[in-house]
Amino acid sequence: MADRVSVLFVCLGNICRSPSAEGVFRHLAQEHGLLDRLHIDSCGTGSWHIGKSPDERATAAAARRGIDISDLRARQFRAEDLDQFDYVLVMDRSNLADVREVWHQNGGTEPRLFLDFGGSRLAEVPDPYYGGEDGFEHVLDLIHDASSGLLEEIRRRLA
Ligand code: 4NP
Repeated sequence: MADRVSVLFVCLGNICRSPSAEGVFRHLAQEHGLLDRLHIDSCGTGSWHIGKSPDERATAAAARRGIDISDLRARQFRAEDLDQFDYVLVMDRSNLADVREVWHQNGGTEPRLFLDFGGSRLAEVPDPYYGGEDGFEHVLDLIHDASSGLLEEIRRRLA
């Protein structure tokens, strides 16, 4: 049994998918009264957007579901994250390859595809950055589904 569980969501830029995952998962955890047992964060493998707010389209899509991600700020993934988080959950196979490379050198928590926790056959949360609004809704649907599965597993660990 664990006292507290930490979860890190990782994508490329930390302005679309992983802050959305952080917001949705936090929201769900709060609804289930588990927020004070969790440490939740997100980051990107790339450095382009460090310190930036989430993409406006991601913020708007989350807001339509009653979730505020506007206060989040992008940061870059670092090797120490693998020592500090119980779950390191990546959005696509490219993120997985990048984080696995660090994991091979550093050890710590092995990164996993976030959608392993979802019920859909999709393995990856597609990058919505160069697409339209629809892409952001699809991302939220996938993230919501996987967040429910993840929370169920964590709830059992905390019980
Ligand atoms: P994210 O989306 O990885 O879901 O935050 C992207 C954001 C920015 C870029 C690529 C993906 N970019 O190339 O700047």
